[in-house]
Amino acid sequence: MIVIFLGPPGSGKGTQAAMISKEFNLKILSTGDLLRSEMSAQTDIGIKIKEVVNSGKLVADEIVLEIIEKNFRKNVQTNGFVLDGFPRTIIQAQKLNVLLDHSGRKVDFVIELNVDQEYLLERLTNRFQCKKCGASYNKIYKPTKTLGVCDVCGSKEFIVRDDDKAEVIKKRFKEYKKLTEPLLPYYNAQGNLYQIDAKQEPQRVFEEISSILKNVLT
Ligand code: AP5
Repeated sequence: MIVIFLGPPGSGKGTQAAMISKEFNLKILSTGDLLRSEMSAQTDIGIKIKEVVNSGKLVADEIVLEIIEKNFRKNVQTNGFVLDGFPRTIIQAQKLNVLLDHSGRKVDFVIELNVDQEYLLERLTNRFQCKKCGASYNKIYKPTKTLGVCDVCGSKEFIVRDDDKAEVIKKRFKEYKKLTEPLLPYYNAQGNLYQIDAKQEPQRVFEEISSILKNVLT
């Protein structure tokens, strides 16, 4: 099964991808996380893309596609993938179809997380992550259970993403509108686009997505 999460920055793609992958035993591929690992390991790709990512622009299609192909090859045996943040351009979507064709798969679900922009800035400027295990939190919506201690690994060190500054977030919204929103009519025409009200609390959003996946699968 292949599930794609589409939605503007902060709409909850990463949050829902984690919940859905666990529920349906799927492997998550998050291009944002993969690109950030390249950046923190200071690989050739990481050095090349750092400025682009931190400016809020999209990374070149060829680079993202190379990373995706490598990860598809590494996980050929998987039950399926949850794609978080990929594809993000029409070219990426077309290339994904070719890649999936080769392995006898297809895009089964495209889940659009709908949230008005006014909520997103607040979500993103309050996001923080555990430095050690990467668990994601939010000062308002998802604080750690014990102040200053990661719920998952107990670490006391946290980081904030360099691209979660208000001025960069606004550029990320613009990139989404210009380059990623055209994927909505593209997938709608293929009949596999499902829209979810992602203003609701995360558990409710998860339940709606799960019920779509289960209904269509049974
Ligand atoms: P990426 O990491 O994909 O960032 P993004 O799309 O901007 O999305 P975010 O990770 O910021 O938000 P999200 O929707 O996952 O929300 P989350 O669940 O974290 O990409 C970063 C950069 O990498 C791009 O700008 C680009 O440069 C590059 N890149 C990545 N993929 C690329 C590609 N395919 N092509 C080219 N370049 C690419 O939630 C956000 C916050 O809100 C959290 O604090 C969370 O706790 C909270 N929250 C979540 N759900 C709810 C809810 N329902 N109610 C209240 N709070 C909530």
